Amino acid sequence: MTFAPKILNWYRKHKRELPWRETREPYKVWLSEIILQQTRVAQGMPYYYSFVEAFPTVYDLANAPEEQVLKLWQGLGYYSRARNLHATAKMVVEDFNGEFPKTYKELKSLKGVGDYTASAIVSFCFDVAEPVVDGNVYRVLSRYFGVDIPINGTQGIKYFKELAREVMDERNIRDYNQGIMEFGAIQCAPKKPYCLLCPLQDSCVALKDDKVDLLPVKQNKTKVRNRYFNYMVLLDEVENTILEQRKGKGIWQNLYQFPLIESDKRLQAEALGPLIKEKGDIPAIKSLSLYNSEPIVHKLSHQHLHTQFWILRTSHILKEGTPWKQIGDFPVPVLIADFIKTLKI
Ligand code: ADE
Ligand code: SF4
Repeated sequence: MTFAPKILNWYRKHKRELPWRETREPYKVWLSEIILQQTRVAQGMPYYYSFVEAFPTVYDLANAPEEQVLKLWQGLGYYSRARNLHATAKMVVEDFNGEFPKTYKELKSLKGVGDYTASAIVSFCFDVAEPVVDGNVYRVLSRYFGVDIPINGTQGIKYFKELAREVMDERNIRDYNQGIMEFGAIQCAPKKPYCLLCPLQDSCVALKDDKVDLLPVKQNKTKVRNRYFNYMVLLDEVENTILEQRKGKGIWQNLYQFPLIESDKRLQAEALGPLIKEKGDIPAIKSLSLYNSEPIVHKLSHQHLHTQFWILRTSHILKEGTPWKQIGDFPVPVLIADFIKTLKI
């Protein structure tokens, strides 16, 4: 038996029932694929349900305020995905009459829809023979065929897409594509693949050559950048605080946060005073205390944010302030949401 029928047989026995596998609606397939990028199924599932409930059609999503979309996305990270999601919904409504395009090429023109997502939509919804290549597929192909070309270089991306195309089952593309990803997620898992019980073990090159742990190969991992965040949690006598919206490019675009002072190292209270003066827009304060004695280290893919929350009490009334009780309504990074949950004022 060749590769594809083995994958299909395995899939028919082991597939999980997932809501986006029950539909051929491009809107729902697209939604699920955007949510599941860099996100595990268990984590993505509740988000999928809440998006489908809040926005049953692409029109509902297109017409929603951005704040609502970001709020529902809260906790998934990579917020550019949420903004692209919203932009694409509007584009489908305005440029495509509310109907998702049916070709790979047109789909790729949508924001946030790359090779993987376009291939997923055409194969899952329209049975177009286009192979999907996500992290699971890279892992399965590199191990089974014993390929050590780095999966994240130009050469590797091209090589694996071609290999995926050669070995796919064109006539059962929907199940085959779902199947190879599912096989990678469950059987040929990143850390502990179940090689002893694997139906592909007889012909798996990595297993034969004892290279399972060495594949797939990744090149030059980017270095992490350490950043030091000091959040100014202002509180006046009527329990108003200040939230600001993050502007510009970079992480957490358009989300809300407390006024931020970024420094080049961890700060003590004495060092903070002059920086508060420099920032300028913070009113005179009555007391200053550090909420967390050890910085909270929030890890993003390329940055570690060493974060200190400072509680600043002021006897000025913060006129532009937000009542503390209402801050839960704003879309905020999880780092901030976790802090809000623990702070008793
Ligand atoms: N991860 C990404 N896409 C997926 C899908 N369609 N089914 C299961 N897991 C996935
Ligand atoms: Fe993956 Fe192991 Fe199966 Fe090879 S034998 S395909 S490495 S689970």
